Amino acid sequence: MDALLDNTALAQLREALGSAGYTSDGIRKHLGEDAAAAAARNDFRAALRVTGAGGRLDTLIRLFICGQTEPLDRVAAALAPLPLESATELLSFAQDGARAALELEPYGDWWVVADLSAGMRPGRPLPGDHVLGIGGASSTLAAATLRRPVGTALDLGTGCGVQALHLSTHAGRVTATDVLPRALRFAATTAALNGLDWELLEGDLTRPVAGRRFDLVVSNPPFVAGPGSTAHTYRDSGRPGDAVCAELVAAAPGLLADGGHMQFLANWLHVAGEDWTERVNDWLAGTGLDAWVIQREVSDPLAYVNLWLADASEDPSRQPALAAAWLDWFDAHRIEAVGFGLITLRAGGHDDPTVRIEDLRHTVEGDLGPLIAGWFDRQDFLRHADLLRSRLVAAPGLTLRQEAALGAEGWEVGQQLLVLPSGLRWIEEVDPVALALVGACDGTVTLQDQVDLLAAAHGVPAAVLAEVAVPLVSHLVERGVLLCAP
Ligand SMILES: C[S@@+](CC[C@H](N)C(=O)[O-])C[C@H]1O[C@@H](n2cnc3c(N)ncnc32)[C@H](O)[C@@H]1O
Repeated sequence: MDALLDNTALAQLREALGSAGYTSDGIRKHLGEDAAAAAARNDFRAALRVTGAGGRLDTLIRLFICGQTEPLDRVAAALAPLPLESATELLSFAQDGARAALELEPYGDWWVVADLSAGMRPGRPLPGDHVLGIGGASSTLAAATLRRPVGTALDLGTGCGVQALHLSTHAGRVTATDVLPRALRFAATTAALNGLDWELLEGDLTRPVAGRRFDLVVSNPPFVAGPGSTAHTYRDSGRPGDAVCAELVAAAPGLLADGGHMQFLANWLHVAGEDWTERVNDWLAGTGLDAWVIQREVSDPLAYVNLWLADASEDPSRQPALAAAWLDWFDAHRIEAVGFGLITLRAGGHDDPTVRIEDLRHTVEGDLGPLIAGWFDRQDFLRHADLLRSRLVAAPGLTLRQEAALGAEGWEVGQQLLVLPSGLRWIEEVDPVALALVGACDGTVTLQDQVDLLAAAHGVPAAVLAEVAVPLVSHLVERGVLLCAP
């Protein structure tokens, strides 16, 4: 797949950007924290004040970050040694100068090439083949990705190539696919500009990699749920409802190497009278995959439709009709809400895979990626260890929150909650048995010894107490409230 610029021009562009200091750090230092933060929110006033001197970095910032038209001599100096006649894909020329024709975004130590964002093309709806730059969903997936070293990785629906960039840091070989040839040209440009080499393949979902297996597959797919529109390729899969996400789950067993993971952002429908977890569970049935599906947000149909119409900068005069048709489809299918979340699958090779489908709507501490890695590690521990012979410790900082009401006998404790203050930040309601067990988890004795002591203290058979304790403790281990002692 050809990049937007030839190899010579790409090398010259890389030299220009590097020598001018057009990097995330370089720009932040040049603008200062406040102006840089304002520019990131599309408020360019301070950035324009700081970059008035017309140096090379000033000009690049004004062009590619603030969306200004700059005098040709300054643009030529800023991009040197890339000659302006080789920069026709990057710039659009007018009598009074040149402006950016596409987004050239510094991203960490990389540069990413994409179409101009909606904010840079005010009043114009996004075209159907728009190649998205780095957005909230891109960052959510990047932060949730497992970053352990792998041999082969696939970025399905690569667009500008942002996920493939991250994969390059820990995968031996990166393959990236997209249904849009135009998107692949952008991805090829991003790769070449950063001196990276990806296998780029064109085609629908998993077709370009049929018969191949990967250690890690990531995707921020066109998951938007609706009647099956194809209006905006970055958003619409052409499949009705949430079928594209069901299709990706169904494809996973054929895509993953032994022990491989697939992670993708997904939407699922909440249909009246049905439990959303059962719907997603149906997608997983028979796949043999371990799965952790977390729902991070739920939108009502009106908010959902308005969000996605605004996201594509739909023509405001057409919006009411588009919104009405979309909402009518939701009504006709009894859709009450749409869930958004992350699906992580693992080819675990067991007959009885572990499947959890749950809400995780609260704010967690830190990136999800390491938290997901920890979740799968704890599942492995639970699968292989004899819990009763294990020594467990309470998670660091675990606290107990009690609620009590004043009754005839004095304070009567109602709810007792274990609060995990970091990481996944679960809050678990517990009964006195769980509380006693957790309280004694200091890593010095086995769970069996704890059960024996507690059983003796309460005059119940240890075997009976063990039957209660094992599922309860394994749930707390799964949630990271209790950990295997070192
Ligand atoms: C939401 S964008 C994600 C882009 C980028 N990976 C990211 O994380 O920001 C979805 C991408 O999937 C591509 N796409 C849409 N339909 C597809 C399909 N049927 N098969 C493969 N890719 C598709 C789009 O062209 C677009 O690049």
